[in-house]
Amino acid sequence: MSDKEIIPYRPGLEGVTAGVSAISDVIAAENRLIYRGYDIRDLAKHCSFEEVAYLVLYGQLPTRAQLEAFNAALIADRELPVEVYNVLHALPKESNLMAALQAGVATLGMMDPHADDHSHEANLRKAIRLTASMATLVANGYRILHGQDPIKPNPNLGHAANFLYMLTGHAPEPLRAEVMNLTFILYTEHGYNASTFTARVIASTLADIYSAVVGAIGALRGSLHGGANEAAMEAMLDIGTPERAEPWVMEKLAQKARIMGFGHREYKTGDIRAVILKDYVRRVAEHTGRTDLYQIQETMERVMQREKNLFPNVDFPAAAIYYMMDIPIPLYTPIFAAARIVGWSAHIIEQHDNNRLIRPRSDYNGPRDLPFTPIEQRG
Ligand SMILES: CC(C)(COP(=O)(O)OP(=O)(O)OC[C@H]1O[C@@H](n2cnc3c(N)ncnc32)[C@H](O)[C@@H]1OP(=O)(O)O)[C@@H](O)C(=O)NCCC(=O)NCCS
Repeated sequence: MSDKEIIPYRPGLEGVTAGVSAISDVIAAENRLIYRGYDIRDLAKHCSFEEVAYLVLYGQLPTRAQLEAFNAALIADRELPVEVYNVLHALPKESNLMAALQAGVATLGMMDPHADDHSHEANLRKAIRLTASMATLVANGYRILHGQDPIKPNPNLGHAANFLYMLTGHAPEPLRAEVMNLTFILYTEHGYNASTFTARVIASTLADIYSAVVGAIGALRGSLHGGANEAAMEAMLDIGTPERAEPWVMEKLAQKARIMGFGHREYKTGDIRAVILKDYVRRVAEHTGRTDLYQIQETMERVMQREKNLFPNVDFPAAAIYYMMDIPIPLYTPIFAAARIVGWSAHIIEQHDNNRLIRPRSDYNGPRDLPFTPIEQRG
């Protein structure tokens, strides 16, 4: 690009195209999301997380035989190396689980002799291992930080059900496994969001997939991105009862506070993932006897739409669902990471396959031409 081509600066890079990708598309005007050409509503209705992970990583839906081989590869990679457990045991008990995930992924990278092989095939193998490992890192990382023994993955369960098994030690009932599978699918991929963009920037320096994922986990942690599901749940707990939902939201809006779990940089008329999950919030609420939480959500949604024309994003229903499934709040954003590892990996592979260093420019708005004063004369 020549110096004369001035592309205007947009705060937050809003609306700026920063790359080309064949992995997913947010068609905000139609409130649609597609992964590799397939509508998320079809994938959510018909697929296992593993099937969607295959699609996102390989670019096409698997045949039955391909899916079986993929499942077997994931199951074989579920258990973590002892070195990773040693690191998890050595961490301070009060560590944030997202930071523990970063330590775990960095350790996996240090143990991989092929970490610096950026070929498509090597990256795919690493992506599968990372997808399998991340769920175990989240579940057993949480257990270890809370003084509990890790649980061995159960090879007879699917990815989402096994994740719940590792958290609790018993196989989940069907509705819980179904809902966890669904949230994993909905969290799998979402274009050039902050964490994925972070991963691509890191990968574009020809750093390895593990380094890029460690960076992505850091970006996901903040409350404007993945951290919103935990913050949304804290808000619902602060509200407490359905009657308090409307005055609580009104008070926060009067204070110009952000209500976590609402709004989206891309979707301005609703997040299709939240629409898909809403029905499950009701089902899980009825199943667990927590219809109060469903009512709190209904009221918050109504008031936010009325007052700000803002709609819930995926984190809002996901938070309530996890809470009703007795999943501790500090696990919500790590669960998001355990699903998004697939999207991150697909983007890192796409970046490495056709790389160009990502290096934008900034407009300098500091002083120029200051007279230099030697340190002896600066007082
Ligand atoms: C996601 C988010 C960062 C996108 O923000 P954005 O595209 O930069 O939108 P803006 O910050 O420009 O917001 C536009 C307007 O809506 C308001 N707004 C946006 N999200 C809001 C929210 N969650 N609560 C209250 N007001 C909100 C802004 O204050 C702003 O109002 P104003 O024009 O009166 O100042 C933003 O909606 C947000 O902070 N949401 C809460 C965090 C969250 O749930 N993140 C997960 C995203 S999947």
